[in-house]
Amino acid sequence: MSLRLAVTLALLTTLPGAAALAADAATGRQLAQRWCATCHVVAPEQARASADVPSFAEIASRPGFNADALAFFLLDPHPKMPNMSLTRNEAGDLAAYIATLRR
Ligand code: HEC
Repeated sequence: MSLRLAVTLALLTTLPGAAALAADAATGRQLAQRWCATCHVVAPEQARASADVPSFAEIASRPGFNADALAFFLLDPHPKMPNMSLTRNEAGDLAAYIATLRR
């Protein structure tokens, strides 16, 4: 591994808030409405989605919620969700948006 890559990785892992800070919640909201709203309630004004799927506000309000961890989760979601092949930026924007729903 090159020294430069090693330094970059070290910075990324020691600055946990960096990804979330750069993310854009407004873009995340649009992505959520386009890709997630068929199953999840993604915004307060949305009436309903699938039963048994947690709303984004519920997800954001869980104890231990962390936008960075969520962004990583979204890059490789678990089997009940379709693999949407989000880019790192998209995953970060979505996580930033979901974080704004915390109550
Ligand atoms: C086809 C339906 C479907 C779509 C589309 C979908 N999800 Fe999900 N999602 C689910 C289901 C079902 C669960 C609950 C899985 C479980 O309880 O094991 C879930 C759970 C989650 C969770 C919580 C995981 C956890 O830790 O419990 C997050 C976060 C999430 N989805 C984010 C998203 C985002 C962001 C999008 C859009 C980019 C999205 N989902 C699109 C069905 C979907």
